[in-house]
Amino acid sequence: MRIVFFDSGVGGLTVLREAVRKLPSESYAYYADTLNVPYGVHSREEVYEFVVACIDDIMRSCEVKAIVIACNTATSAAIEELRDRYAFPIIGMEPAVKPALQYVQQSGGRVLVTATPLTLKERKFQTLVRKLQSPEQVDTLGLPGLVEFAERGVFGGPEVVAYLREQFAPFELQRYGAIVLGCTHFVFFRDSIREVVPPHVVLMDGNDGTVNQLIRVLGTNVRERAESAEGILFMSSKGTEEDKRKLSDFTDMTKYRYRASARASQKRKG
Ligand code: DGL
Repeated sequence: MRIVFFDSGVGGLTVLREAVRKLPSESYAYYADTLNVPYGVHSREEVYEFVVACIDDIMRSCEVKAIVIACNTATSAAIEELRDRYAFPIIGMEPAVKPALQYVQQSGGRVLVTATPLTLKERKFQTLVRKLQSPEQVDTLGLPGLVEFAERGVFGGPEVVAYLREQFAPFELQRYGAIVLGCTHFVFFRDSIREVVPPHVVLMDGNDGTVNQLIRVLGTNVRERAESAEGILFMSSKGTEEDKRKLSDFTDMTKYRYRASARASQKRKG
């Protein structure tokens, strides 16, 4: 049985990477809805239909132990209906706004939540913010362009930095203590975002929290030994060999990017 990571495209690979690190003995599958990416500019109903078609496809291809919807947009549009529809555990993601707010209570400053336009518009996110202790400290910014860049294989460079500068321009970034990366695709752009935001601003994503939630949900159903693990099965809704190759290449790149940013933060600390 496999733990399946699902996203509209390559973004969820950043979460899969974290899971492989914490649960190395499990068998995994990764599914990208390459036919319909990007989700963030579609309606809630459309996204729900897309995700159901993909999960049905996944169930035809492998035995599912749990599904991680490694996509904030699909989670906000469909998570409750998905849990009603399928019997296996389904883990969702939400922008890490709670930890970010906790962080700024100590350090000071406001919180800027970046995500896709659909995530920010959805009731799930609105409710999450409304229930916080100080919702007036939270601002939001849609960055759908980053999803487009990532799907084109562009993860940095002048084009990305220019886009980010333009999008952040209306915000006085000195007044912020934390920026939330509320879309799994954005995690690839940590280095570029660092280039345009002041050094005191902390970047927070929900990847670690999501994998911890997966571990909690699996409980004792975690595979301890790696002998029977089947590695990672890559799938996509287009189903082309090119897609599969691209996705497995990206896992290496995710590894590389994580190592690169770990080194970068070491340097900053030192
Ligand atoms: N990676 C996704 C997220 O976490 C969605 C990106 C998209 O397809 O627009 O929100």
